[in-house]
Amino acid sequence: MFTRCFGYPKASVDRANNQNNRGSNMDVSTELLDIENMRAYTYKDLRVATEDFRPENKIGQGGFGSVYKGTLQDGLLVAIKVLSADSSQGLREFLTEITVISDIQHENLVKLHGYCVEGNHRILVYGYLKNGSLDHTLLGSGHCSINFTWEIRRKICIGVAKGLAYLHEEVHPHVIHRDIKASNILLDEDFTPKISDFGLAKLFPSHLTHISTRIAGTQGYLAPEYAMRGQLTRKADIYSFGVLVLEIVAGRPNQNRLLPVDEQYLLERVWQEYREGGLERMVDNSMIEDVDMYEACRYLKIGLLCSQSLPKSRPSMSDVMKMLNDEIDLNEKDLSDPGLLSELAKYKTVKNNTLGTTFSGSGMHENSSSYGNTETSYANMNFTTVTGR
Ligand SMILES: Nc1ncnc2c1ncn2[C@@H]1O[C@H](COP(=O)(O)OP(=O)(O)OP(=O)(O)O)[C@@H](O)[C@H]1O
Ligand SMILES: [Mg+2]
Repeated sequence: MFTRCFGYPKASVDRANNQNNRGSNMDVSTELLDIENMRAYTYKDLRVATEDFRPENKIGQGGFGSVYKGTLQDGLLVAIKVLSADSSQGLREFLTEITVISDIQHENLVKLHGYCVEGNHRILVYGYLKNGSLDHTLLGSGHCSINFTWEIRRKICIGVAKGLAYLHEEVHPHVIHRDIKASNILLDEDFTPKISDFGLAKLFPSHLTHISTRIAGTQGYLAPEYAMRGQLTRKADIYSFGVLVLEIVAGRPNQNRLLPVDEQYLLERVWQEYREGGLERMVDNSMIEDVDMYEACRYLKIGLLCSQSLPKSRPSMSDVMKMLNDEIDLNEKDLSDPGLLSELAKYKTVKNNTLGTTFSGSGMHENSSSYGNTETSYANMNFTTVTGR
């Protein structure tokens, strides 16, 4: 049983890190028996909350299922994520998510209220975040009523950094999220950002230098050393965070295949502009009136610092927070080449891959994946894409 607030007993570390070895027929209910702080909802509770999963209440669709807005009997507004029944990949993530965040709470992490396991149903119940996810609002192509001022963007960057610093440095064992990206940053009504989706997270005991693991994450946010060698450290999250900061300041996604080839990759563009002394050109011009241009450029440099190709050159999340708050200087002499996706891309042969795909698969030293979905070869690794992600 869990007795501590911010620590995991060894059994739960093993459980969270071993989900990949389990099959789809595992007894999920047994797995969840010893998890405290989590409410088990009945399927009927959630049917009532969503008016029988009415299509009008659907607010999102991810690779593992649909998300509905609902109101529980006690009036609590929730987001209800229904996993596709036939996804064994989703089942592993389902258990990891519950195991990892059942015991931690922070203002910059989404709140998981509970779950439902009944028959084939696997459902997660989160606090509802009124202002949705960054990919739909700030980076979406459709209309968005939110005016993302510089003040709001600064608040989002700092909040995400806080949440990540907490996972990396305050929780024991440390948690590596592995899927930091715009669609996993949700905003509440006063634009406090909340990191969501802990399905790929790994608990990282502090005596280890890295974990060798299956590669999982989202194209465009993956640190090169992790993508190439499957060696996972907290620095992989910091790389993804760096890419996210660039997206927030530039107001565009990290890849945009509609642009001319040499402008498609944001990280590459920002680095090029930095070297040519034109960083202001990368600041989203929709906030031209209120932006603190000096600070916005400083944030772009912090994004570059986090996305450098050598993991040891990337700062820790607590240092990133201090830099964002202007409490410590950013030493520009430390700034070196970013780990560029396009360099990896030169070697890749992609079959059936989609932009923004979350995937998991095996690194080149491991046996190939057993997930059985579309095989995608990327450099000299085998990835297995998760359909639709
Ligand atoms: N707690 C929440 N409050 C409000 N909206 C949410 C919440 N959780 C998810 N959503 C909405 O549902 C969408 C789908 O979320 P989901 O995590 O299933 O997939 P995703 O992050 O978009 O993609 P992926 O499958 O690659 O993780 C989000 O983009 C967001 O708009
Ligand atoms: Mg998500």
